[in-house]
Amino acid sequence: QDMLETLTRLITGQLHLEGPLLPILQAIQAELDHVPEQAIPMIADALNISAAEVHGVMSFYHDFRSAPAGRHIVKICRAEACQAVGGAALADAVLADLGVAWHGTTASGAVTVEPVYCLGLCACGPAAMIDERPVGRIDAAGLKRMIAELDQ
Ligand code: FES
Repeated sequence: QDMLETLTRLITGQLHLEGPLLPILQAIQAELDHVPEQAIPMIADALNISAAEVHGVMSFYHDFRSAPAGRHIVKICRAEACQAVGGAALADAVLADLGVAWHGTTASGAVTVEPVYCLGLCACGPAAMIDERPVGRIDAAGLKRMIAELDQ
């Protein structure tokens, strides 16, 4: 019930805006730290669009998550400069090690892995960010070690 009220408030609060979909998603994520699945049909109804369209916009902008984040967020750069120096292999290794997909959270709730499209560290890729700490020239072993040091 509370959740329903919160979502209704956050959705109706943006409806006066032109192009309210993004502001609605942003307002929900800002307050709840994620956009819960139950918000999708509510948003679709309010804007008279399909749930698929809401999902499409959510996945186009990589910042939205559909489940609460873990206690730590590890962002791995997927933009071009980092890809050119092994970013994809780094990401694959870390995701496999943690047993999650992009945007996934480890079973203990400790770590969420998010893709990011350039951290401004292109000259020292592959780059990642652990919570607010940027790391450059990181390899899979190094990143795994840093993740293991986080409280699990
Ligand atoms: Fe990875 Fe810019 S491309 S930090």
